[in-house]
Order: sequence, then C-alpha cells, then structure tokens
Amino acid sequence: MDILRITGGSRLHGEISISGAKNAALPILCAGLLTADTVTLTNVPELNDIATTLKLLGQMGVRCTRETDGTVHITANDVSTLEAPYELVKTMRASILVLGPLLARFGQARVSLPGGCAIGQRPVDQHIHGLAALGADISIEHGFVVARAQRLKGAVIRTDMVTVTGTENLLMAAVLAEGQTILENAAREPEVVDLAELLIKMGAQIQGHGTDRIVIEGVKSLHGATHRVIPDRIEAGSFLCAVGAAGGDITLRKVAPDTMGATLSKLQEAGLTLTCGPDWIRASMTQRPKPVDFRTHEYPGFATDMQAQLMALNALADGTSVIAETIFENRYMHVQELLRLGARIDIDGHTAVVRGVTKLSGATVMATDLRASASLVIAGLAAEGQTIVERIYHLDRGYERMEHKLRQLGANIERISSKDLS
Ligand code: EPU
Repeated sequence: MDILRITGGSRLHGEISISGAKNAALPILCAGLLTADTVTLTNVPELNDIATTLKLLGQMGVRCTRETDGTVHITANDVSTLEAPYELVKTMRASILVLGPLLARFGQARVSLPGGCAIGQRPVDQHIHGLAALGADISIEHGFVVARAQRLKGAVIRTDMVTVTGTENLLMAAVLAEGQTILENAAREPEVVDLAELLIKMGAQIQGHGTDRIVIEGVKSLHGATHRVIPDRIEAGSFLCAVGAAGGDITLRKVAPDTMGATLSKLQEAGLTLTCGPDWIRASMTQRPKPVDFRTHEYPGFATDMQAQLMALNALADGTSVIAETIFENRYMHVQELLRLGARIDIDGHTAVVRGVTKLSGATVMATDLRASASLVIAGLAAEGQTIVERIYHLDRGYERMEHKLRQLGANIERISSKDLS
C-alpha cells in the first residue's frame, strides 16, 4: 500500500487544472448501457473508481476503450451478462448505477447489494422502491437485487429523502419507460444535471433537471452521443481548502465556479480572497483562517463531500466553529486522525465543535475514506514537520494525481510506493 509523505509549511503558488468530476462520470459511464450505439465521453478522470466501472461494464460485454487524453468510448451492442457481482460492488457502491439502465433496456438485472460503508448505512431502498413504482418486479435473493420488467411504465415517484444516485438510477430507468415519469424531491446536484444533459443528447426527453421536480417522457430507444464531463467541484474545493490551510496564491483552471454551491462563500468567510471567471478561480490566503460554522446539505447547500476538508481549515482557525453533518451518520472518521495532528475537536452526535489551534504537528495518520484522506493531506500541508498519510488507496479512488498537482503548486509531498517501503 502506497503512502504519502508530506513536509508541511510550504505556501502554495501557481496553477493547476481540475479534472472531470468523478461523481458525474460514474453515472454517465453507466448510461452507455442504454443504447447499442457508441457513447463517447471526454474529460473522464483517471481514477480507481472509473477503472472499477469500466471493469464492471467490460464484464457485462460492453466494449470500453480509453484514450490517454481522458476520452472513453462505450459500446453496449453485445451485452452478455446483466449482472454486477459482489466483488466489484463491495469496492464501489456506485456500481448500483447499472441497475436502472439494465432494467430499462434489457428488462432484467441482478446487482449485488452494496453492504456496509465507512461513512454511514447508505441503504439503496429508494432506488428499489422507485424502480418498483415503475413496474419492476424486485426481490432480494442471495445478497442480490433481482429486478425484472417487460417494459417499465412511467409513474410519479417521490423519494423519502434527496438521493443523488437514487435520482440518477431512476432517471436512467425512466428515459426508456412507457409514458411520463415525474421524479419529485429529486437531487439538484450538478452531476445529476450533467447526466440529464447526456441523456438528452442521446434522444431522451427530460425537463426540470437541476430542480427538485424532473419530468421525463419515455422514448422507445436512445442513440449514441458525445459528451464532456463537467469539472470536479469537490476536487476544486479541496485545493481551495489546501491553499486556505497552507497560505499562498493559486489559480484553478478548467473549473466551473457556478457549480460550486455554498463552498465558495464559506471559503470567503474563512478569509480566502477569491476571483472567478467562467472557467477559472484564483484564490489567495494571507492570514490565519477564520472559523466557519456550517451544516452539510443537499446542493446548492454545503456539500457533505467538502465537510472533512473545511474541517481541516477550521482546525487551524482563529476561534471556534460548529459543524453539523446532516447527510451521513458516520462521516467524522477523520476527526480521530486530525486529533493526532494536534487538532482540538469534540463530537456530539452529528455536531463537531472545532477549537482552532495555532499549529498542527506532523504525525502518521490513516485515511479512512476518500474525503477524509483529502482532509488529512490538507492538514499535513499546514502541519509542522512530517506527516505520513497511510491507506491512500482511498484518495486514489477520487483524486486524479493529487500529489502531482500539489507538487506543481510547490508543496513538499511525495508518494512512496509499498515496494520501496518493504
Ligand atoms: N439514502 C437512503 N436510501 C437510499 C438512498 C440514500 O436512506 O435509497 C440516504 C443515505 O444513506 C444518505 C442520504 O440518503 O444518508 C443521501 O445519500 P445519497 O443517496 O444522496 O448518496 P449517494 O448517491 O450514495 C452520492 C455521492 C457521494 C456523496 C453523496 C451526497 C456518487 C457516486 N456518490 O452518494 O459521494 O457524498 O451523493 O452528496 O455520486 C464521495 O464522492 O466521496 C461520495 C461519498
């Protein structure tokens, strides 16, 4: 297992490009199952979760080719297996995103139930209820969701809570259903909008994406299309937290500031000076961070995927902040590790109270999930001395060459491969 070795204290300066959004690319790759034609995607990030998705599609008989520039071609004209096995689903919950498209196009699917997760229970009951409302016959057999339907039929579906991949699964199912489907309480995340934009290019009839009421008129079939994946707003936000913690002046290119919801205003509250153009953000930080209270919320509220990173900034702030995590019940795994770096944080239920310290001190810490890893890297950049981040396979699931980009900004960070460690 690789580790990251960070020597804190370097201010960040320079420019980097933001990669395509992981959480947009994952459903979009699965949407390739909805047609026999080729779907061509550009700006697909090179990440472990993307490799897992391509492997999953490949096992089904989908032809997937990846070019070095981030272009991926998906052709699902000879699908042989309508199944997502446990071995892949357990490593990546987003594999559930094949359920809607398989059922809609082929009338059946067998997808392993994801099982446990580090950040919360994360059931998929809303995906299942929604597909049942579209007329699917669904059962749980031997750990698999087994779904069948002749042709799905449009329905009005109101999910109990806002669910991002739930909305995406139901959207991909409804585009090929007979008649009209209305998704109420739908997720408004930019990644849902990006998926809808691709589906429209493929011939789907969708209105209202980006609002909480999406209206879909089912069509008989979809065709091929070409689509560029939106920039990763969480990666962008993570680099902004990094400059917030380490200080300096950086510019992010190939980014979409208008998709970043509450992240930018919270970072300004923390003391960053931000200037934005249509596809760039310049951020400078010349002071100790100010404490920022926040609650995680569905888009356009403050993203749960940014909670750990902004907490790292708060750990260094000049004062106390209160954080409420409202989306996942166990998303404070990074706190115990931040404490090892000298942070002062108390957890009570879903609330964290962070008392800012003047200095963090480097230590060996362990990444527990993707965003927790990013938070530890950010803290390490600001900490005195050396920080070792272990288990960075979590980081590799969702950040494209993070240490390269940080080095480009002047950070003292290196990956040490497991073979050099032994
Ligand atoms: N929920 C249910 N039942 C369901 C679906 C969701 O109870 O059937 C609950 C969840 O347990 C959670 C809440 O609803 O408490 C919201 O979960 P949601 O379904 O929106 O999460 P997700 O779709 O599984 C996506 C992202 C996550 C991100 C969340 C919230 C992808 C592939 N994943 O997950 O990203 O945190 O939305 O914005 O899009 C990450 O990138 O690090 C990550 C975890």
